[in-house]
Amino acid sequence: VKHVLTARQFETAELDDLFKRADYMRENSRTLTGRRRLMASHNGLLLATMFYEPSTRTRLSFEFAAERLGIRVRGTENAAEFSSAAKGETIEDSTRVIAGYADMIVMRHKENGAAERAASVSDVPIINAGDGTGEHPTQSLLDVYTIKHELGRLDSLEVIAMGDLKYGRTVRSLVQVLAMYPGNHVTFVSPKEMRMGDDIKQYLDERKVKYSETEDMYKVLAKADVVYQTRVQKERHGAVKGAAPATGQDPRFVIGQKALDKLKETAIIMHPLPRVTEIETLVDTDPRAAYFRQAENGLYMRMALLDALADGHSR
Ligand code: CP
Repeated sequence: VKHVLTARQFETAELDDLFKRADYMRENSRTLTGRRRLMASHNGLLLATMFYEPSTRTRLSFEFAAERLGIRVRGTENAAEFSSAAKGETIEDSTRVIAGYADMIVMRHKENGAAERAASVSDVPIINAGDGTGEHPTQSLLDVYTIKHELGRLDSLEVIAMGDLKYGRTVRSLVQVLAMYPGNHVTFVSPKEMRMGDDIKQYLDERKVKYSETEDMYKVLAKADVVYQTRVQKERHGAVKGAAPATGQDPRFVIGQKALDKLKETAIIMHPLPRVTEIETLVDTDPRAAYFRQAENGLYMRMALLDALADGHSR
């Protein structure tokens, strides 16, 4: 069974295949004829969506992605409250049962490693839709698809990864995928209490990916091809032992007009969303603001992923 648990599990050939599938999904989504063709492609399959943490994009894009491919969806947007997890059922027991009902399971959970635990007992694919401060592999797929779509390449990029790098899981997954391509350099920009974890830095060292760290985005903005901004994950700061207090948004890390003035014309600004105050809304109308295009790409990339997993379906 092919599970999707971590960004580092993908090979570049698999990514190329997913990019092609995502382009196909985008193209066919444009016309009613194309939509009907897609709708007939995986009719009969069933997807379960189990979200133990809030989500807008990941859950809805997976659910719409499935429905656009003719896959029917059942699940819960609040599994922590509306599933038997509220009565103390373990992830393993719930997964064993749901795997008997559905052909694939998309799961978001507040605990690191939850998707891996689910996968250990599941004979249908488990797709990690975000586990605590661990990973968000499908976000990294749509992120690299967006970079490729916007800039035409995934190598030799100057990437600024910014914000709450300690508690945000999207950057952790993204840099692991970027590490597969030559010549990329990542600058981590964050307050010192929200720096990128040593495990990811060690992974970059092993892959010989160059990176640096700074608290001053204005020193590095001018060279960036991609600025990947993230939200302060306030909800996680109290839950992690030794965590910094919920500090909210430090104005030094907000992208506004002054940051736009420093950026190259060809650069793009990305954000996994939701955005709170870390990108001022005045940035939204700048052509370099790619974050809403990025969110739309999530639909096509998740269609691509479900399509690929369904092609390998053996029930
Ligand atoms: N990017 C992302 O994971 O958004 P949601 O939390 O809304 O799913």
